Amino acid sequence: MSDDGSARPAPAANTVGHVLRLSTAHLATRGSETPRLDAELLLARATGLERIELYMAFDRPLNATELDVARELVGRRARREPLQYVLGEWGFRRLLLTVDPRALIPRPETEILVERALALIAGSEAPRVLDVGTGTGAIALALADEHAGALVTGIDSSADALALAAENVARTGLAVQLAAHNLFDGLPSGPWDLVVSNPPYVDAADLATLQPEVRDWEPHQALSAEGAVEAVVRGAYDVLTSGGGLALEIGAGQAGAVATLLRELGLIEVVVSRDLADVERIVEGVRP
Ligand SMILES: C[S@@+](CC[C@H](N)C(=O)[O-])C[C@H]1O[C@@H](n2cnc3c(N)ncnc32)[C@H](O)[C@@H]1O
Repeated sequence: MSDDGSARPAPAANTVGHVLRLSTAHLATRGSETPRLDAELLLARATGLERIELYMAFDRPLNATELDVARELVGRRARREPLQYVLGEWGFRRLLLTVDPRALIPRPETEILVERALALIAGSEAPRVLDVGTGTGAIALALADEHAGALVTGIDSSADALALAAENVARTGLAVQLAAHNLFDGLPSGPWDLVVSNPPYVDAADLATLQPEVRDWEPHQALSAEGAVEAVVRGAYDVLTSGGGLALEIGAGQAGAVATLLRELGLIEVVVSRDLADVERIVEGVRP
């Protein structure tokens, strides 16, 4: 019965609207901070609809296959697997990249790092660019995509990450070179007009305090490696051309020390930029 007492048919079970409500409630109880968004994206995936189209299809019943897929996807997310891994792809700058537990999920703050890196090579026709700790290849690929003529190489010590990055190179069709390299051995000699890096910067002691999505699913070697930030800075100084730029993403509270290190090494035009949460997140400088 409705509020006005008139008889109305019960909502059909397993309509888009019904499954969306149930999934949202389920994900909320399992600790997702964005249960409605998660449910919408997972249901869109299960039905082949665009997210916006769900709103025009609330009364459409899911068929048995769609329902099975929706159950499986929502179940994975309920176990705190990151939404991005469940979907298997995620947007970064203008690109859609394959993401899975072989590498870190590209973050919005890293899009700002790309912005700063692009500014450092803005005047150069064919800058030689090194991305240290390339992971999915996100930074390297975005730079190749957005700076025509950039000659971009991505390095990583993780064979898994490099395999995923190679898939993204193939998927995007962008010309990025990949190589296995340990940043603690110094950086490839180049010389480079830009060294860019989002190195592992989480303090090992803080790993246990991270959200389950990060702590239990993302590769720990992508999150934390003691001394990596300093090793990238020192390594970059040795392989940058005169006038070459360094742009680094760093953890909350690290900007002051990292900016000081850049200045001590003799880098000039040292600038710190904030992310969307107003945290000092990017440090850059130029080798004189
Ligand atoms: C924070 S993730 C960044 C991934 C990607 N660039 C991004 O921004 O999404 C750090 C990357 O550094 C790599 N890494 C960790 N230790 C390394 C080392 N010793 N040498 C080279 N790469 C390393 C990890 O495998 C991981 O891909």
